[in-house]
Amino acid sequence: MAKILLTTTSYQDTPGPHHALLESTGAEIVRERGPLPEERMLELAGDFDAFLCGDDAITRAVLEKAQPRLKILAKYGIGVDKIDVAAATEMGIPLSFCPGVNHTTVAEHSFALMLALFRHLVDEVNFVNEGNWKRLTGHEVMGKTIGIVGLGRIGKEVAIRAKAFGMKIVGYDLYWPTEFAEEYGIEKADGLTQLFGKSDVISLHTNLTEETRDMISTASIANMKDGVIILNCARGELVNTADIAAALESGKVGGYGTDVLDEEPPPADHPLLKAPRCIVTPHIGSRTYESVERQAVMATQNLINMLKGEKPLAQVNDAPIPTAII
Ligand SMILES: NC(=O)c1ccc[n+]([C@@H]2O[C@H](COP(=O)([O-])OP(=O)(O)OC[C@H]3O[C@@H](n4cnc5c(N)ncnc54)[C@H](O)[C@@H]3O)[C@@H](O)[C@H]2O)c1
Repeated sequence: MAKILLTTTSYQDTPGPHHALLESTGAEIVRERGPLPEERMLELAGDFDAFLCGDDAITRAVLEKAQPRLKILAKYGIGVDKIDVAAATEMGIPLSFCPGVNHTTVAEHSFALMLALFRHLVDEVNFVNEGNWKRLTGHEVMGKTIGIVGLGRIGKEVAIRAKAFGMKIVGYDLYWPTEFAEEYGIEKADGLTQLFGKSDVISLHTNLTEETRDMISTASIANMKDGVIILNCARGELVNTADIAAALESGKVGGYGTDVLDEEPPPADHPLLKAPRCIVTPHIGSRTYESVERQAVMATQNLINMLKGEKPLAQVNDAPIPTAII
């Protein structure tokens, strides 16, 4: 009987047809509460045909330990930066993922963070709950310039919403989406420095690579407008934690709204938990009932296809699909 390790908590905790779909494989399912660190993955690896995983540390060492039994990686989600994709490909393990199912939900969350910062929403709600009718003056977003870094699936949805809010949009991507940019009136920045210099709000939507790591640092912040608002619904490591904490402290950065941190969950002394005008949500950008159901069904269907020896709906690497194991 095939044996599958299921680690993603939103998958497990959200109702929907994915549960019955997974059971229909007849496989033995072992459930863990991820995202799991490397030590825990190393303890578990070796005994499974497939991982249905979230942001668990699937390093080369984990993949080696998982051999020879592990044949399939089915990622629940889109970011594969916690998986050593090169190692998986070398070992001939196909990796599927779920593009095109969570982009609207994540874009909505970016807007939730932006509007919350512009209107001091978190502070105001806390004041009222404390019995304090203290009224702060905010800013409106209409007419402000939003700089979108990464005009992929999520970045495009942010642009669509920004246009509806009457914002000016400037964008930067390695691959410029000419038609989309024309349709939504997005100005093309020559590079990150130009985008940073023009933006009142900067919203990050690239994947995490060695090139994008620490994209926001003391050096890049120096090119930004005073009081800039930065939003991050992508990956914590795009932003250097010590540098953004210092820029919030000095007032150079007017607010940081983030759904992601370099360490999740953060230790109690993480600098961003106490930084001024910083709001942090616990990586819930794609966690709506609608999005979780779409993503869980897609991740499960990817897994089932590969268990049957067929191609998944979307594959990250070009490793061959193993012969059917169910
Ligand atoms: N907060 C959450 O819950 C959540 C949920 C889903 C995705 N994410 C993150 O959001 C990221 C984006 O997701 P997506 O679905 O839009 O992915 P996507 O692949 O559709 O878009 C990413 C875009 O970034 C661009 N890019 C990559 N490197 C770049 C660079 N150096 N400079 C400029 N542009 C660059 C790519 O060309 C691409 O257009 C994911 O990689 C993931 O890390 C977070």
